[in-house]
Amino acid sequence: MLRGKRILLGISGSIAAYKSAQLIRLLVKSGADVKVLMTKSAQDFITPLTLSTLSKNPVLTEFVKDDSGQWNNHVELGLWADLFLIAPATANSIAKLANGICDNLLCATYLSARCPVVFAPAMDLDMLRHPATNANMNKLISFGNSIIKTEHGDLASGLIGKGRMAEPEHIFKFVDEFFEATGPLKGKRVLVTAGPTYEAIDPVRFIGNHSSGKMGFSIAEEAANLGASVILISGPTNQKTDHPLVNLVNVTTAQEMLDSCTQYYGESNISILAAAVSDYKPASVSDQKIKKGHDALAIDLKINPDIAAELGKNKRQDQFNVGFALETENERANAFEKLSKKNFDMIVLNSLNDEGAGFTKDTNKITIIDKNNIVMNYELKNKREVAKDILQAIISRYEN
Ligand code: C5P
Repeated sequence: MLRGKRILLGISGSIAAYKSAQLIRLLVKSGADVKVLMTKSAQDFITPLTLSTLSKNPVLTEFVKDDSGQWNNHVELGLWADLFLIAPATANSIAKLANGICDNLLCATYLSARCPVVFAPAMDLDMLRHPATNANMNKLISFGNSIIKTEHGDLASGLIGKGRMAEPEHIFKFVDEFFEATGPLKGKRVLVTAGPTYEAIDPVRFIGNHSSGKMGFSIAEEAANLGASVILISGPTNQKTDHPLVNLVNVTTAQEMLDSCTQYYGESNISILAAAVSDYKPASVSDQKIKKGHDALAIDLKINPDIAAELGKNKRQDQFNVGFALETENERANAFEKLSKKNFDMIVLNSLNDEGAGFTKDTNKITIIDKNNIVMNYELKNKREVAKDILQAIISRYEN
């Protein structure tokens, strides 16, 4: 139930604006107090009268109220809301908000809002996959905003694909779960890396590893279950997540993973680096597919950035970093060394010597070592259970 929750709904100019009527009904029915802001072009798709009737509040569209000379105070609105939901969010509004432009009431309110902001984008499939839109959405995520994924289906353009605004019922569910989220990590930002990285050799081949991403995805979802807002930066995997509090960022190479991590790290409280990052990459990438010829072929490799070490260098007092170690020999000694070298607060050691533990398996057997050299051994468990153990160990040590 959303009883007493104050929701500011920003509507920008997309055909999906007609669905806002249904969304408002669901929110109001559930007890929320809803105020609506519309951009000028949103009014071409649905009238303020419809939405003010449904929300039982005046709909705000301009900085200045007609005739009376009064102005609609965007600062007050921004402070009033418990949640600012922008649905539909067009590519144009997303671009403006990602860049701090405030040439209308909706945009100015966004800059004034202190509450969490959630976007439900709506656009054509090509606009959605354009790198500019992608970069803008990633920027919004890096500000701590959440994005409700678009859905696949018929688009107003006549094309079929991704880009449809999530159905009002799904947006409502997101909002409901958002307010329901409780737990020790509520209000915390958790960054998780997962999966392998792929380093291109030529246009069709790469250096990679067997990491399935299962451990990282389980950790991300468990952190979200404990109330955290999670950024999950993953290399190529088959894993999926539709947890409303997990924002997935897909990357391929170690350099891309580092760039993404750097973007989100400053805003993060806890970083859990579960990715199996390729230590080396080809010194140069061949433009053409390398032809079979000689009996032997040597590929020169150069070192990749160490993401964990880079983040560790800039770690603040209020941040907690967790690393993983997969060792085949001198396990404990190497894990201890890594803990200090990468400035981890805690390291999770999984050994390939343990039956049932490791890369593509569903189970894992871990040892946790913290920076005070306290060692904890765990039984072989399902990766979801292992994720819970890891998060409990973090929560009992994280003091912020
Ligand atoms: O040094 P090693 O690769 O064993 O360290 C493992 C830990 O460091 C893991 O937490 C892994 O995610 C992280 N790592 C990284 N960037 C690298 C290599 C490892 O973040 N290039």
